[in-house]
Amino acid sequence: MSKVASGKIKGPTAKLLDEFNASIMFDKELYSEDIEGSIAHVKMLCKQKIIDENSRDKIINGLLTIKKEIEDGKYKFDIKDEDIHMSIENRLTELIGKDAKKMHTARSRNDQVALDFRLFVLRKNYEIVDLLLSLQKVLLNIATKNIDTLLPGMTHLQHAQPINFAYHILAYMSMFKRDIERFENSKERNNISPIGCAALAGTPYPTDREYEAKLLGFDSVSINCLDTVSDRDFALEILFNISVLMMHISRLSEEIILWSSSEFGFVELSDEYSTSSSIMPQKKNPDVPELLRGKTGRVYGNLISLLTVLKGLPLAYNKDMQEDKEGVFDSVKTAEISIKILTKAVESMSIKKEAMQKATKIGHLSATDLADYLTQKCGYAFRDAYKLTGEIVGYADENDKDVSELTLEEIQKFEPSVKEDIVDILQLKNSMNARNSQGGTSKDSTKKQIEYFQKWINEAAI
Ligand code: ARG
Repeated sequence: MSKVASGKIKGPTAKLLDEFNASIMFDKELYSEDIEGSIAHVKMLCKQKIIDENSRDKIINGLLTIKKEIEDGKYKFDIKDEDIHMSIENRLTELIGKDAKKMHTARSRNDQVALDFRLFVLRKNYEIVDLLLSLQKVLLNIATKNIDTLLPGMTHLQHAQPINFAYHILAYMSMFKRDIERFENSKERNNISPIGCAALAGTPYPTDREYEAKLLGFDSVSINCLDTVSDRDFALEILFNISVLMMHISRLSEEIILWSSSEFGFVELSDEYSTSSSIMPQKKNPDVPELLRGKTGRVYGNLISLLTVLKGLPLAYNKDMQEDKEGVFDSVKTAEISIKILTKAVESMSIKKEAMQKATKIGHLSATDLADYLTQKCGYAFRDAYKLTGEIVGYADENDKDVSELTLEEIQKFEPSVKEDIVDILQLKNSMNARNSQGGTSKDSTKKQIEYFQKWINEAAI
């Protein structure tokens, strides 16, 4: 029989119900937050003279013993205890006797679970930010070394305009910076203590919620208890933040998969972070980025799942809410391992500058520069310049040349007023450097972006 069954329920609960109802198999993950919360709670109860010092000290010592038992692997998690909260309380009663029964004064499992889960999520926000900063350092290092590495910038996966590899990497740094900011915003917004709300309506005991919140490191105390015990927005936020992060990771993974194919050959994953085929000995497979791309799906699933659980619930606590934890645990673990392995895989991957450079010769990447030249220097309206450039590109194709390889004489056959300077303008490096607008790909602009991220990382590390 479940040890929570008491009061109105007289008979033993069915074993099947115990199994169905229990969350201990997964919410044991919250043991340290539960113990920390209970220690703060009894300190507050004692300060408010609701329990005496002797009981407080016995409870705290007992809780610390339990923490050690769990960390030493000696603790017995039993589904009969239903959840981590009852499990620890029952074990405390075994250890210290009747004083343990005072611990749950002026609280309920509803505010207790809201506290434990919120503390867990807040901490994970910090940990994920730290991991992302390590990834950002690796990306910045790659960017710093590749300001002069030209590659084709693409739209529709077609060669479009020349860019440098640093600039491409800095696009991902921009995404991960936004991710970091999202985790930090959530951390700030949700740094509010739920404890002391009790079941739903507050408590008649003379508690001090501010004091208890301070002990637990919260910035403030929640406003309305009915909302507080029902609120899982903090859990949704981390699920959403991880979903967006994984979407970014997945896009980078997709590019790494493409880049490491024979068709591109822009990067090569290190042996340490590649896998081989069981049958084709010549193969080196990008399993790491493929798995990262694949794992993004389950993380989206976890977000949709919790949104769906919550959408129809009347206030306040409903047992449906026990379904909030597994998805969050899974998404957090997925995000952590994903960032770690992406950091290592990217750090150890080799960048094939020559292959990138060679690819810039395909697709007439400086054709826009020719159209701009005709517009700015030969008096064409842009649409007419665009049309004539199309004809010149057709000529280059017929002659197996890239537009950047045409001679002055060849171009003059189409427009005699074109001058000598066009030859330089069409060089790919010059084409890239011409894009010097703020946030553009020119060497100067890329350097400014690198400086910006360097400064930002230094400040974030403080
Ligand atoms: N195991 C429960 C959960 O995870 C704890 C809260 C239980 N509260 C209750 N009134 N049954 O949601």
